[in-house]
Amino acid sequence: MSGDPVHHVELTVNGEPYRATAADRQLLVHFLRDTLALKGTHIGCDSGNCGACTIRCEGKLVKSCMMLAVQADGCDLRTVEGLTGLHGELTPLQRAFKEHHALQCGYCTPGVLMSAEYLLERNPVPSEEEVRRALKGNLCRCTGYVNIVAAIMATAEELGRGGRP
Ligand code: FES
Ligand code: FES
Repeated sequence: MSGDPVHHVELTVNGEPYRATAADRQLLVHFLRDTLALKGTHIGCDSGNCGACTIRCEGKLVKSCMMLAVQADGCDLRTVEGLTGLHGELTPLQRAFKEHHALQCGYCTPGVLMSAEYLLERNPVPSEEEVRRALKGNLCRCTGYVNIVAAIMATAEELGRGGRP
């Protein structure tokens, strides 16, 4: 990308303000990982198919390989690094992933966690079918879907008892 015009980008990620430059063709996922050193967001396909790069932008769920960094100028982003409990401990969702063995290689996990959090914020008591539908944009190449769904259902049960995702 050397020689491409460079733009100033100011944005907030997980509550922290950042100012940096981005080439006009730089994808947001590369900007997060390479420029801001936020490597939790993974790159699987670079073409909008796998969901490994899923993050939140202005509260919406987006695939960060489908956005340019310059399009995020002025935006409020949330990445998997922003998923922490009140005092830095695991959230119920993260704990449930651990307890239900919902990750194998872990490549899909950041994107799956973001999609699951998005679902549970909107629908704290989802059916199994709703969980599966919410994950349709996230591919797990280890095919660990049964345990992923079990972990999200377990989190929903905990939410039903007054927890937070
Ligand atoms: Fe973005 Fe696969 S890397 S959807
Ligand atoms: Fe390996 Fe999902 S745990 S891709």
